[in-house]
Amino acid sequence: MATWSAPGKIFLFGEHAVVYGKPGIAMAIKPRVFVTVRKSRVAHHAKSPYIDSCFDMMGVRGSVYVNSQLASSSGLGSSAAVTVATLSAINDEFGKKHRPEEIADMAFAIEKKVQKGRASPTDTTVSTFGGLVLITGTKRRRLPPQNFQLVVGNSLVQHNTARMVEQVASFRQKSPDICNPIIEAIGAISLSAMRHLNDANKLGEYMNMNHALLDALGVGHPQLSRLVLASRAAGAYGAKLTGAGGGGCMIAICPKHLKSRVAGAIEACDARAFSTSIDTEGVRKEKDA
Ligand code: MEV
Repeated sequence: MATWSAPGKIFLFGEHAVVYGKPGIAMAIKPRVFVTVRKSRVAHHAKSPYIDSCFDMMGVRGSVYVNSQLASSSGLGSSAAVTVATLSAINDEFGKKHRPEEIADMAFAIEKKVQKGRASPTDTTVSTFGGLVLITGTKRRRLPPQNFQLVVGNSLVQHNTARMVEQVASFRQKSPDICNPIIEAIGAISLSAMRHLNDANKLGEYMNMNHALLDALGVGHPQLSRLVLASRAAGAYGAKLTGAGGGGCMIAICPKHLKSRVAGAIEACDARAFSTSIDTEGVRKEKDA
């Protein structure tokens, strides 16, 4: 029996634009997904295309138990965390000896297959290595860890990443002259933000711009915008949706002393909020229960 855990992630900047090779910045955050794998001839696990693909790719059979502290389908990278932790637990339980880079690549291939060819390696990279990461196409660069003061708001509106990615692809196909400049501008924001990582005020401004551009891309949701506006009114430097949009989560960057006020403002809009910070550790082995 082997138990491994992997962190969730938030996109600080650049979701959707990363699917088109533009830069994005993502960060591993504290809630984790725990996966226990045990050798067995009969496969026992929840029906999940991600977990099935992990076993197929490793060419083995076994049973799986998943214990997730991350809300699924909320934009916090739970499917990538499940995939990375499952691959790592299989790797350990079956003595496969794949390196973390290979685990990240396999997890990306699985996400891509399940998301019908359109995915960036962001979620799987961040979940495997932890920390703060700049993603550009298939290139990943670790950035110095930052102690951002963040609040995550979950709109509790269900969404589907593959569908949102599909929606942007069809907008881009129908109206390239409108869609491409929006994607370009999101990429430019990520690069500018990278030069101001220790200026929370400036990052807040960039988050506000990024949110507006995501709305223009068509991946916003009225409840997400409500949470974003409530956070800003409560004193956040800035706020934006995070992940695929259409529902799921938003993030707010705040002065430390205003974090609980911002979280309260989000919860007052019939949503859930939690305060979070960077998880510098990626996928890791846990003690078996
Ligand atoms: C989903 O968390 C982020 C997207 O950019 C898709 C991806 O990067 O694979 C929408």
